[in-house]
Amino acid sequence: MPKVELHLHLEGAAPPAFIRGLAKERGIDISGIFDAAGNYRYDGFGEFLKVYEAATEPLRSPQDYYRLTRAVLAESAAHGVIYSETFLSPDFCGGADLAAWKEYLHAMQEAAAEAEAADGIILRGIVTCIRHFGPDRARAVARCAAETAGDWITGFGIAGDELAGKPADFAWSFDMAREAGLRLTAHAGEWQGPDGIRDALRDLRVERIGHGVRAIEDLALVDELAENGVVLEVCPGSNVALGVCRDWRAHPIGRLFDRGVKVTVSTDDPPFFHTTMSHEFDRLAETFDWDAGVFATLNRTAAEAAFCDEETRARVLKQLETA
Ligand code: ADE
Ligand code: ZN
Repeated sequence: MPKVELHLHLEGAAPPAFIRGLAKERGIDISGIFDAAGNYRYDGFGEFLKVYEAATEPLRSPQDYYRLTRAVLAESAAHGVIYSETFLSPDFCGGADLAAWKEYLHAMQEAAAEAEAADGIILRGIVTCIRHFGPDRARAVARCAAETAGDWITGFGIAGDELAGKPADFAWSFDMAREAGLRLTAHAGEWQGPDGIRDALRDLRVERIGHGVRAIEDLALVDELAENGVVLEVCPGSNVALGVCRDWRAHPIGRLFDRGVKVTVSTDDPPFFHTTMSHEFDRLAETFDWDAGVFATLNRTAAEAAFCDEETRARVLKQLETA
């Protein structure tokens, strides 16, 4: 089944073997972030963020990001993804320096064009600031986003530690991105409850929410999300692996869907959570007894909410329809 994925962190999708190989080439010792089987090793969200950042250390040049983008898209395409949006972090691509960012971006776009020619997978980029790096750094990231906004960089977002600061601290950056024509999403309702989602919607004026699953703790908010057509980028395997949800059965995606919220399905950081888009679809099918019709709805919702131009959206919707 073809799939549309809206929430994927490029560095978070890096296969551990790829990062290990690069670290070896560069003479960097990050062996502590891997377990005996060679997978990423962490305990809890705080450590996850540290391991994630350590894994970006060997990524030091635009060419490294070219290779990373090719590797990630090959994996996505192998699991049936036909359209993907990936969070890109100028923080890790030249320290949020605009000239450096443009070089990294050029390399990623080249890789994406080659992947599209080879496998048909379409990629768009969402420039993302990191909440625990603070509002000043976010402004530099927003400037990188605004200066490169266009057909390929189509969105702006925020990830990182949701318990650091508050959405209003980042309003300046989101205003700048909006004025540059970028579409907006924010991680919220993953580690904070319903108020974190309300704050992001009010203070950042985003149209999509990354995760948003803790909306389920406030049914009035759930109904508001449904009425206003706010799209949730739900990553069930990530939520289970990080302990946001006890297990797949307890995951609120089914209840959110049944109550009319526009939910979509993504992997977030697939190798960290031992998941793929195929795995997410399979687990959802077995957990909630969802049939092909439900997955067609999820894919259509994602395509309609994608931060791409209308011609690209029409192409993706057509591919979904004919599948
Ligand atoms: N960055 C990468 N994955 C993330 C997650 N699940 N939450 C917040 N920031 C992230
Ligand atoms: Zn995420």
